[in-house]
Amino acid sequence: MNEISQIKEYARKNSIPIVMDKGGEFICRTIVDRGCKKILEIGSAIGYSAINFASLPDDIYVRTIEIDIDRYSRAVDNIKNCGLENRIKITNEDALDALIDEKFDLIFIDAAKAQYEKFFEKFKHNLSENGVIITDNLFFHGMVENPQLTHNYSTIKLIRKIRKFVSFLQLNPEFLTTIHDTGDGVSLSMLNPDFIQPEYTQLSLEDKNVSCSPQLSKEIEYGNKVYSVSEEEHQTGLFSYHKKEDYFVISLIEFYDRERIKITLMNMLMFVRKDAVKNGIHLIKIKLPSDCFFDGIERIGLSPCGDGMLVHKL
Ligand SMILES: C[S@@+](CC[C@H](N)C(=O)[O-])C[C@H]1O[C@@H](n2cnc3c(N)ncnc32)[C@H](O)[C@@H]1O
Repeated sequence: MNEISQIKEYARKNSIPIVMDKGGEFICRTIVDRGCKKILEIGSAIGYSAINFASLPDDIYVRTIEIDIDRYSRAVDNIKNCGLENRIKITNEDALDALIDEKFDLIFIDAAKAQYEKFFEKFKHNLSENGVIITDNLFFHGMVENPQLTHNYSTIKLIRKIRKFVSFLQLNPEFLTTIHDTGDGVSLSMLNPDFIQPEYTQLSLEDKNVSCSPQLSKEIEYGNKVYSVSEEEHQTGLFSYHKKEDYFVISLIEFYDRERIKITLMNMLMFVRKDAVKNGIHLIKIKLPSDCFFDGIERIGLSPCGDGMLVHKL
């Protein structure tokens, strides 16, 4: 048995999760086809996938991060035994704390699934212009498609998170993402060349376009309640939008964490902007509960008109 097969066998015997054959082949093919030279991996486990990537012909460099000290130590040994110390750099740390400035041609996110979105948001800044981000386990052994396959509460929670991550990818205007039915479900995201960062303008109460009707305020709901605004309502992620006379209203339909609201709002705006342009509309009002404003959304102006009305001028 060669070194790589032994590592795989060790992982199987010790229940250490490693990339499935088909998923691994997909990534290796992507590396070769796209001529990727620098790879960042989040979640090394015992180094199996990193060793596979670095063993591909050509001069490939892999930077990989593992949080678990025992797995890290074994990965270090495995990398050494394969003679790949010069091609693989591994560190033992929480990837969310890692300080990495380099750019990579391929980023493989394969660590804690519940944190995929955080990893994605953090490491997208390390992606080279033509690079790709790959995530694994999006089908979670068929359970994402068929949640009834499990009754375990924490697995059900995890499945929900994976679903949310998939919709985050699909609605993310900054990236073009394809989901591949290979291995345990693999996504491939590349930067969207047409992406334009939305711009927001702060308006004051004096501005005639700002309004805050009590009726609109009443429409704001908390909790997981999904509410319908009108028959023409459209829904994307956590928001719905609908057309009023000469403006659009975006409403929050599900309360979630602030970071997610922000990202989903950005995504929603991309959709609504397109529709607004088509309809000759120049104003979008965004309703959020007043406690829903958060750091990092300064670019969006908050009008001082009661319970959180943002106005976005096209
Ligand atoms: C599925 S395994 C990785 C398998 C590996 N990529 C392979 O195919 O050989 C996921 C690994 O991510 C690690 N991990 C989880 N959260 C992490 C974090 N925040 N930072 C770094 N590693 C993490 C886990 O300890 C685990 O070993």
